[in-house]
Amino acid sequence: MRRILFVSALLLTACPKAGDPDAPTWYQDVAPLVAENCQGCHAPGKIAPFDLVTYDDAKNIADWLAETVEAKIMPPWAAHDTDECAPPLPWKDDTRLTDAEIATFRAWAEGGALEGDAATAAPLPQPIDTTLDRVDKTLIPEIGFQVPVQGPDQFRCMVLDPGNDETMWLTGLQVNPDNTNVVHHVLVFSSDGDDGDFLDAEAALGGGTFECSAGNPAPHGVELVAAWAPGALPMRVPSSTGMRIDGGARLVMQIHYHPSGEQEAVDKTGIELKWEEDSPGRRAFLALVGNEGSAPELQPGMNDSGAEPEFFIPAGATGHVETIIYEQLDTADLGDLAIFAVGTHMHWVGTDMQIILKHADGTEECLVQTPKWDFNWQRWYDYDGAPEELPVIKVGDGLMLRCTYDNSLNNPKVREALTAAGLDEPQDVRLGDSTMDEMCLGVFGIYVR
Ligand code: HEC
Repeated sequence: MRRILFVSALLLTACPKAGDPDAPTWYQDVAPLVAENCQGCHAPGKIAPFDLVTYDDAKNIADWLAETVEAKIMPPWAAHDTDECAPPLPWKDDTRLTDAEIATFRAWAEGGALEGDAATAAPLPQPIDTTLDRVDKTLIPEIGFQVPVQGPDQFRCMVLDPGNDETMWLTGLQVNPDNTNVVHHVLVFSSDGDDGDFLDAEAALGGGTFECSAGNPAPHGVELVAAWAPGALPMRVPSSTGMRIDGGARLVMQIHYHPSGEQEAVDKTGIELKWEEDSPGRRAFLALVGNEGSAPELQPGMNDSGAEPEFFIPAGATGHVETIIYEQLDTADLGDLAIFAVGTHMHWVGTDMQIILKHADGTEECLVQTPKWDFNWQRWYDYDGAPEELPVIKVGDGLMLRCTYDNSLNNPKVREALTAAGLDEPQDVRLGDSTMDEMCLGVFGIYVR
């Protein structure tokens, strides 16, 4: 809301500048950049709070646009190459602007935000697609969940029946969060085909949802098929792969609610599925790996109080690092796994995260680094390469996750989180599920080769 007010204030006060006839123009120079890199979100019905579609949308905020792209706040993008980390492939749908493109925004603003000539403009490129290209099924819980004004974070499971008697292959899943004031993140799991009745009964017992903070909600266990956190794009698997949904299975949506502290809220978050009847050939999975609170995976590090490693980020600590190492991942029964997407996950105190694949032969591959971690912009990143170019977890390989935290008031996200919780001073932070705890978790989209 604040931002929208800011835009209208600018509209009232912006005054036209002297025009330079050689300056870039909207139709010739800026509109193509905005169409390709901004309109996936800044268009009617998309997630951004204002549109950037027409000349009128943009002309009076040209300075603000230039500032925002120069500061690299927009387009939001967290995965960057660093001196330590050069990921093996470029990323799909990379919306980052080049230095020359950023300079075009600046020159357009300085030159008076000229309109140019619509008649001679080249056709506009397509924006990145932030929705599924086909929706086969939409599932929304019948009863909304009532989130109280205050109180601890809650993990609720909603049970959704996709209604398939035969095995189906999921190729895309979009989570549509309803009340983003309280929805912190969403994980979607599929159950075993035999657990449907059990899950329905659990949900009925709890009046539509049930508490599911720890462990497996179903007797035969569940498999992760999608994850949503602020900034996420839909889950889409590579062609010739799919996630298996057994006939009779249920989809279990685990929603982490964080009471807003302001008002009671009802939430009816739902999902959209894209799926196929015929097996696409290769089975895809999502895996969450990390969040180890003790040895041997958690490494000795900063601010450990005793001899044992501790996941503990004291109030005020800056540049605090926690490192998790898996010497050998437990993948022997699956064989080699191709990684098609990778993402990082921490909470408010996190500032930088890196994931390294440690091959059994001693070589290492940095899969991703998010050196300017921003809790408000979480997503996974898809590698842009042919199937044979994707990084591969071979049997016997290990993994390292390195997470860096700043638990001081210098960290704007810590200030934001403290204000939201009604606190003035940083608090001691440990590993945990609540928003005010921390995590160090890798998200992997993989398929069996
Ligand atoms: C992935 C979606 C997405 C893309 C792509 C995107 N934006 Fe945004 N943008 C948003 C959202 C959401 C907000 C509101 C952010 C907030 O409230 O923190 C926003 C906010 C902004 C703001 C206000 C920033 C501020 O400090 O409050 C500007 C300016 C902006 N975008 C410009 C752009 C431009 C220019 C591009 C393309 C070069 C772009 N955005 C691409 C989603 C996006």
